[in-house]
Amino acid sequence: MPEKTKKIWMNGKFVDWDEAKVHVLVHGLHYGSGVFEGIRCYKTVKGPAVFRLREHVKRFFSSAKIYFMEIPYSLDEFMEIIKETVRVNELEECYIRPLAFKGLGGMSLDPSSNPTEVIVAVWPWGAYLGEEAFEKGATCTISSWVRISNAMLPMEAKASGQYLNSILASMEAHRRGFTEAIMLDSRGLVSEGTGENIFVVANEVIYTPPLEASILHGVTRDSVIEIAENLGFNVVEKNLTRSELFTADEVFFTGTAAEITPIVEIDHRKVGNGKVGEVTKKLRNEFLRVIREADEKYRKWLAFV
Ligand SMILES: Cc1ncc(COP(=O)(O)O)c(C=O)c1O
Repeated sequence: MPEKTKKIWMNGKFVDWDEAKVHVLVHGLHYGSGVFEGIRCYKTVKGPAVFRLREHVKRFFSSAKIYFMEIPYSLDEFMEIIKETVRVNELEECYIRPLAFKGLGGMSLDPSSNPTEVIVAVWPWGAYLGEEAFEKGATCTISSWVRISNAMLPMEAKASGQYLNSILASMEAHRRGFTEAIMLDSRGLVSEGTGENIFVVANEVIYTPPLEASILHGVTRDSVIEIAENLGFNVVEKNLTRSELFTADEVFFTGTAAEITPIVEIDHRKVGNGKVGEVTKKLRNEFLRVIREADEKYRKWLAFV
């Protein structure tokens, strides 16, 4: 259970955490007809700021559009609702979860006439894959579950039902004793983690799979590419094979929840020397600096609460 906070914004008003409830027959609960976001608010030197709020809200609206869900607010209004939810809960640093789902109405598979319910919840959330993985690196396994593909579901959408694929991979990895799963796409090429994008470092060049590899277009992925290029690294979007993971110098995950988490072992093979790599460290230090220092260059990424 997430750490309880005061209020959840629900369909236009703030309700107490314990009162934010729905009926058991809501469409979203039965068929996964929902879209959501994961956003972080950081305590910066200039006060709390939401990281890349506009980009996250844009993706939220795009996900909703793909699934014919009406969100009755403008982009700017919804950004303000998110900031207000952080303020009302008096948090300096938190994870933010906007969710839109199909509510009570017909039970057929076309929920067009069901109402769309919208909520925003916030709570403190530390290292998603655990402190140890964040500091010393995660151990991963290649999942036996193939990543769903663009031909089956719209991978640009962050939709609730699509996460059943990630849930199976995550449970499998944990039962096998690993921190996290790496999923391959339907071509057998590297796609992403269950809730993270993936990067590989080989001979000082940074590689990451392209959108065609059935990945979610990650906001952190984009941020890390920009940070890396600003630090002088060459970043190449390219399809990667499983062998390229095994033989890489460094591998790491990126994501709002996972931030930058190093991967030090894949299916019992050490990545590089099995320690957190220098490039990963450099990128992570810069990422952690950028989200808290609010310097000129990256101010565009921070929406002050
Ligand atoms: C499947 C998947 N891939 C990648 C990501 C990383 O995306 P972002 O950096 O926008 O959080 C996420 C998290 O939202 C995810 O769920």
